[in-house]
Amino acid sequence: MERTFLMIKPDGVQRNLVGEVIKRLENKGFTLVGLKLMAVSRELAEKHYDVHKERPFFGSLVEFIISSPVVAMVWEGQGVVASARKIIGGTNPLESDPGTIRGDYGIDIGRNLIHGSDAIETATREISLWFEDGELCSWENTMKTWLYE
Ligand code: RTP
Ligand code: MG
Repeated sequence: MERTFLMIKPDGVQRNLVGEVIKRLENKGFTLVGLKLMAVSRELAEKHYDVHKERPFFGSLVEFIISSPVVAMVWEGQGVVASARKIIGGTNPLESDPGTIRGDYGIDIGRNLIHGSDAIETATREISLWFEDGELCSWENTMKTWLYE
């Protein structure tokens, strides 16, 4: 079963939106297999956003991610990588569709509440960057037969 890495950024935690974010993914039917509130080291933030290291916003992005705790999560389900990106919405919250997390709760591109892996290979890399194997819990949701044909 496919897995993705999601991270509620410092603004989402500070604005008490942790429950709201988790609720949306649970309601969709995805399964939570990893969850932790954590203060992020500069090294981890830089590794996570390594793909953007030459971009002008890299420095402020890293400072933001380490400024206050984040909630790191792994979610599982059919097509979860692409579907979670749709639930999250486009990068710039002013342009994200209403009904998405960013579209409903954000204004500024630098305060867009949540990160989601952008592809299956990225998800694999990010899950191993943020979680030890022992921190992930593989379990079978008893609702599965009511979610999948
Ligand atoms: P993320 O990686 O955080 O899930 O966001 P994303 O895929 O939608 O967007 P991405 O292009 O990967 O950008 C990563 C994060 O960098 C910040 N950003 N700021 N000031 C800017 O022009 C700018 N562009 C991007 C955003 O916080 C974005 O989520
Ligand atoms: Mg990205």
